[in-house]
Amino acid sequence: MTQVYFNGQWVAPEAAKVSVFDRGFLFGDGVYEVIPAFGRRLFGAVPHLDRLTRSLHEIGIENPLSRQAWLDVLARLVADCATDDVSIYIQVTRGAPAKRDHAYPNPPVAPTVLASASPLQPVSPTVLKSGARAITVPDLRWGRCDIKSVNLLPNIMARQQAVAAGAAEAILVREGMALEGAASNLFAVIDEDLITAPLGVHILGGVTRQALLDLIQRDRLIPVVETPIPIDRLFDAQEVFVTSSTRDLLPITRINEHVVGDGKPGEVWQRLSAAFAAYKREVSQ
Ligand code: PDD
Repeated sequence: MTQVYFNGQWVAPEAAKVSVFDRGFLFGDGVYEVIPAFGRRLFGAVPHLDRLTRSLHEIGIENPLSRQAWLDVLARLVADCATDDVSIYIQVTRGAPAKRDHAYPNPPVAPTVLASASPLQPVSPTVLKSGARAITVPDLRWGRCDIKSVNLLPNIMARQQAVAAGAAEAILVREGMALEGAASNLFAVIDEDLITAPLGVHILGGVTRQALLDLIQRDRLIPVVETPIPIDRLFDAQEVFVTSSTRDLLPITRINEHVVGDGKPGEVWQRLSAAFAAYKREVSQ
C-alpha cells in the first residue's frame, strides 16, 4: 500500500496514528487541501499550496513545510499512486498539546501534518451525457467559508441530504442567494452571461473556479459576471454547472423539481468543458 507523508516521515497508512488530544480531532482545529493530478501531472499545485498557506495564516498556524518541500511530497505521492489520475489530500492541524483548552496552545506545539494519495475517479460518461441532479439547502456554515477548514459538518450534512435525494450536489443558499455547492463552486448561464458568486467570506475560492475564469479571460470565451445568483434566477438559468478539483465542470440539469434549460448539458458547458480539458493538459506539471 502506498505510504503516506505523516509528520515528516513516510509511513504505511495504518502506522500514521494521531493523538486523542490532537486539536483537529477535538476541535476541528485545522485546514486541508485536495489537489488533483491527471496522467501523473499535478494540476494547480501552486494555487492549492498558496490557498493552504492562506488558510493556515488565517487561523494562526505556521506553514510546516516550504513550497519546495510540499512540491517534493506531492511529487512522491503522485509517482507512488497506483493510478495515473490522483487525488492528494493534505491536512494540517494545530497539533496535540497535553491539555484540552479552547485557546491556542502557548507556546505552540508541532502541527500534525498528513499528505496522502488516492485514485481519482473520473465523473462517469453517463452523468456527463445526461447531467447531474442538485438540490438546494440552506447554507448553515460559519462566517469564514473562505478558509478551507476541516470543520465540514454543514457541508457533509448538505451533501448527505443530496445523496439521500438521489442528487450529486447540494447548492447552498444564504439569504435567497445561491452561493456555491457543498464541495464545489457554482456557475450559471443567464442571458448570455456566465454568473458565479464573487470571492469573499461566504464562499471558498476554488482553484478550479479561478483556473476556469483565467482561461475564459485569456481566450475571451464568454462574458463573466461575479455576483451571487438569486435562487429563482438559478431555477430559470439556461445552464448550471459546478466546479471542483475532483469533478472538473459538472453539468447540473435538474435542481429540486426544476429542469435546467432543455434538461441536457448545455452548449456553454460543452464549450468550456472542452476548453478546460485542453487547458489542464497545457498547464499541468
Ligand atoms: N472541495 N467550495 C467548497 C465548499 C469546496 O469544499 C470545494 C472543494 C470547492 C472547489 O474548490 P477547488 O476547485 O479548489 O477544488 C468549492 C474539495 C474537493 C473537497 O472538500 O473534497
